[in-house]
Amino acid sequence: MATDEERGGLRRRLFAAVVAAGGERYERVVAARKRALLSDLHGAVLEIGPGAGSNLRYYPADVRWIGVEPNPYMDRYLRKEAERLGLAVEVRRGTAERLLVGDASVDAVVSTLVLCSVDDLGRALRETLRVLKPGGRFVFLEHVAAPRGTWLRRLQRLVRPVWRVVADGCHPDRETDAAIAAAGFAEVRLERFSLPMGLVGPHIAGVALKGPSP
Ligand SMILES: C[S@@+](CC[C@H](N)C(=O)[O-])C[C@H]1O[C@@H](n2cnc3c(N)ncnc32)[C@H](O)[C@@H]1O
Repeated sequence: MATDEERGGLRRRLFAAVVAAGGERYERVVAARKRALLSDLHGAVLEIGPGAGSNLRYYPADVRWIGVEPNPYMDRYLRKEAERLGLAVEVRRGTAERLLVGDASVDAVVSTLVLCSVDDLGRALRETLRVLKPGGRFVFLEHVAAPRGTWLRRLQRLVRPVWRVVADGCHPDRETDAAIAAAGFAEVRLERFSLPMGLVGPHIAGVALKGPSP
């Protein structure tokens, strides 16, 4: 009989394989937005939840890339992608809620399809602000809750308990846009758009800037 730990390991291994195998169609749809958001980043870039490394292809070759990823089974896919691109990467085991880097130490924090899954969104955003240098950018592309009062929003709420289990903790009805707006960034530039992806169709993409030091 498998223990809880073994079952958790199996689930994470399976999720890593799904993320690695399933992303290309999505990637084609978001490629232009990702290019616009990621291709002019420089210096130290910290990506939270990089998964199998779907974003690595968009970065300039000179970035110093650090990934903070809780699922160890993602590593081999990510390293293979980094090798294909000739990009040096450093993966640290951790979570967005506890980033293992110093205060004001990175030029950009990147999150794509991660904030829906973190356990504590407020804490993840506070950590993002902590590690960014003054003037640094938080770059995001996330699926979010549909507008309140819509059928899609009701459906997202209804399926949430099951969805969280099958989709590695993902909340389909999370108001990540409101959380980013309230997090304390000096400026937030955000685009809303919808993709033909059913329950997780509503998306946001943008950049939030950390203000200068007081
Ligand atoms: C849907 S995948 C997206 C992967 C990648 N960002 C992409 O866009 O292809 C979600 C990722 O978030 C990671 N994740 C889940 N909870 C997290 C947390 N609390 N902190 C950081 N990453 C987390 C998962 O392990 C997984 O790699």
